Amino acid sequence: MPTDSRDSILQLTAAGVSVLIDAKGGQLPAIVHWGAGLPALTARQAETLVGASVPVTSSNTVDLPPRPGLLPGHHSGWTGRPGLRGSFGGIGWSPKFRTQTVALNGTPVTAFTSSGPGLLEISALDDADRLRLDLTLELLPGGLLRSRAQLTNLCDEKYTVEDLALSFPIPSEATELLDFAGNHNYERIPQRGTLRTGTHLRENRKGRTGADSAYILHAGTPGFGFGHGEVWAVHTAWSGNHQHYAERVFTGEQLLGGGELLLPGEIRLGRGDSYTSPWIYASYGTGLDEVAHRFHTHVRSRSPQVSAERPVTLNVWEAVYFGHDEDKLIDLAERAAAIGVERYVLDDGWFGSRRDDTSGLGDWVVSPDVWPTGLHPLVDRVHALGMQFGLWFEPEMANPDSDVARAHPEWIMAARTEWPVESRHQQVLNLGIPEAYEHVKKHILALLAEYPIDYIKWDHNRDLIEAGNQLEAGRPGVHAQTLAFYALLEEIRSLHPELEIESCSSGGARVDLGVLEHTDRVWVSDSIDPHDRQTMLRWTTQLLPPEYMGSHIASGRSHTTGRRHDLAFRAGTAIFGHLGVEWDLATASEEELNSLRRWIAFYKQERSLLLAGDVVRMDGHDSSILVHGVVSRNRSRAIFATAALDSLYPDPAGRLKLRGLDPDATYRVEPVFPGTTPSGLQPPAWWGQPTAAGQAIRPTSLRGGAQDDVIFPGGSFHGSVLAKVGVASPRIHPDQVVLYRITKIG
Ligand code: GLA
Repeated sequence: MPTDSRDSILQLTAAGVSVLIDAKGGQLPAIVHWGAGLPALTARQAETLVGASVPVTSSNTVDLPPRPGLLPGHHSGWTGRPGLRGSFGGIGWSPKFRTQTVALNGTPVTAFTSSGPGLLEISALDDADRLRLDLTLELLPGGLLRSRAQLTNLCDEKYTVEDLALSFPIPSEATELLDFAGNHNYERIPQRGTLRTGTHLRENRKGRTGADSAYILHAGTPGFGFGHGEVWAVHTAWSGNHQHYAERVFTGEQLLGGGELLLPGEIRLGRGDSYTSPWIYASYGTGLDEVAHRFHTHVRSRSPQVSAERPVTLNVWEAVYFGHDEDKLIDLAERAAAIGVERYVLDDGWFGSRRDDTSGLGDWVVSPDVWPTGLHPLVDRVHALGMQFGLWFEPEMANPDSDVARAHPEWIMAARTEWPVESRHQQVLNLGIPEAYEHVKKHILALLAEYPIDYIKWDHNRDLIEAGNQLEAGRPGVHAQTLAFYALLEEIRSLHPELEIESCSSGGARVDLGVLEHTDRVWVSDSIDPHDRQTMLRWTTQLLPPEYMGSHIASGRSHTTGRRHDLAFRAGTAIFGHLGVEWDLATASEEELNSLRRWIAFYKQERSLLLAGDVVRMDGHDSSILVHGVVSRNRSRAIFATAALDSLYPDPAGRLKLRGLDPDATYRVEPVFPGTTPSGLQPPAWWGQPTAAGQAIRPTSLRGGAQDDVIFPGGSFHGSVLAKVGVASPRIHPDQVVLYRITKIG
């Protein structure tokens, strides 16, 4: 039964964010305010505010003031992007929805309601009673807003959904945009621009989130940074084709939006069928750090929770690639355990005929050629050494030269009988076909039953091109594939609740909040070069807290860039994520192993802070100096790092300033160097003399290095002094990092 929603205005407030929603008079809801927290309004004040937000109409426009809702409709005179595009074969293409019911946390709303965080549900029918629209808008306890829509066909004629996107209004002062681009080996690279009249549209047709994903689309006041400026942002939580956009229409209304990107004819609803959009998240804050913290709070509240005691991992990929050899890999496990590694991951190459990337992919049976007695000797040794065991899979893929592709060519995704262009010698298995889904599931479950596997690295190494369903004459299948992927993850997790799963996709091409509902960490990038990782980690934390980012220390020469870096820089970069090692330890010197052991010990000692604290990224005048850190929730401890990515100019760098500490507390700031000191270190006077035995740090030490941890006594400073005045920085060579351990002393 419809309830009378004539007077429905809602105010939701949480963690310094307020949303005022106008759902009056049977109209689809429109957000009147999304941004800074407001005091609880009275019904009269809310009514007045809604009235006062109605703009005058522009010259020569329709006689209704613009009121772009969550799902803007053409019938209201809105000539920007409509929220819903679709039709019954060309008819019913401009539905006029009337709200039937409004409920907050399950209770019908008929009058002004003010609350804390809450879940708002609006159900509407189009004027011809052919479509039902269920909109959900939720303000989460951390101040993050999210929305999704479900559209149901109520009649016999098929309805084709062409596009369904949800949008959030932003005020006119938000004129600067920030989103991301990137490619394999260099993901989440920021790009800025100006929001002008028109649409800034980021479309993804790769069938996976993408290395060039827009990731999060921000709009803010000009010059916004990590700690300043008002910022509004949207993120589409979906691992298939998707879109993000910022739109400004000629009358000045501005929106940020997102949704799935549907291929032609992909969603056709028969009677009673529904299409559900992904969640579109919206985060507001003063500065990018606050926007990020709202995402982090949400990710950290999910169940099961990821512990900050993340095990130090060794992944064998850059150590051996496809060169699987039982003795070599057991030897690597022993070397890893000896330096403190806690999880060992066997990467690509253990199955079928997979001796290189041209064959065997999709045949999830341990290869007798390289593992004559199965994986048992390795798995047993890994566990006997006290480490967890992890195994690599790429379940959605097959090489054409594989048993599965030979037996079931019809399972390959294709828009016609001819298969799509290959990528890394592989094609995509259509998990939307129930038999293909069951086949993959059966093989993964058989391996999980045979071996005590603690962790899966779940890879996905190509874009989906012409990804149709051969059994349906090549109809688009990306939507079904994405849902099947999520369902498979959930089935496996429900049977193995202790299993952790990593989302990897040619490095970091599947990083989004959709996949993070089903997985426990992401592989940030196939490039482990710390110079580039500094930037990638900095921006991956815009969505994810550090404990979700796979962050490895590789060998001295980067396999993807050819650059060489000191261990101190590699490790001092990697410890700000879920630490791992990806290096053939048999080739490491004793000195390197000693240093590595010390870095791992330092990480273990500090990981409850490094991986559970609040991320702080400082704004600086020099883009080649990155200052960042983590501060414990109670502000009693912090670890900060300064990374120099280039020669300094001016030299030395300006004062070190730190945000996020208690401004009224006093802190001891100690420069710490686990295992090695950076090259070119020239400490400022306030550091004092280092305390480690035998460490005479020469002012212009060319080659850093030490066998023991070096700790300088540093100094004690007020939190507000560190934030506002700052302290002198050291000189260091380019591609070096300095760590500061910060402890509250009063
Ligand atoms: C992808 C991953 C790598 C590695 C290889 C194996 O590129 O990102 O880490 O697992 O596949 O083929």
